[in-house]
Amino acid sequence: MLEWLRAKDSNNQTIKQSRNKKNMANIKLSEDKINIIKDIAKSFGNKAGEVINVLHQVQGKFGYLPAEVQEVVAHELNIPVSRVYGIVSFYSFFTMEPKGKHPIDICLGTACYVRGAEKVLDAFKRALNVEVGKCTPDGKFSLNTLRCVGACGLAPVAMIGTKVYGRLTPDLVPSIIAEYND
Ligand code: FES
Repeated sequence: MLEWLRAKDSNNQTIKQSRNKKNMANIKLSEDKINIIKDIAKSFGNKAGEVINVLHQVQGKFGYLPAEVQEVVAHELNIPVSRVYGIVSFYSFFTMEPKGKHPIDICLGTACYVRGAEKVLDAFKRALNVEVGKCTPDGKFSLNTLRCVGACGLAPVAMIGTKVYGRLTPDLVPSIIAEYND
């Protein structure tokens, strides 16, 4: 069991704390990553009410919030893991999946949607053989959707990293992906 976890053991633990600690025993995160999460939680006073801010910063560091990261956050804020999971799955900003080297975001806002964004999305799915919210096995591309990137005049729009592609049609997708064959 991890050293820092042992240090917190005491006879005054609540049932909730004990449950969280039991979960912590299975965590496979490196000590460095655990310490990063601990420092972030500490900077917010380990307050349960700061959970969104803590998750925001932790995701900023790691890029995503896998289950083991959520467990450490829950432990540090002394809240149930189910509450952290509920927040991560509710807010679309949070993700439990790693982003690819080239994250692809397809706009499904109204202007893009009515001009065929769904067909463009399908073309990306087919070309990469990946579902929305997932990453290709080689880690190169991840595929996500979002709502209006503010370029409605160019609809339908996709972003790869920070580069914006406008007036997309499904047949353009293979050549766009080919730009990232490095
Ligand atoms: S709806 Fe897609 S950019 Fe506005």
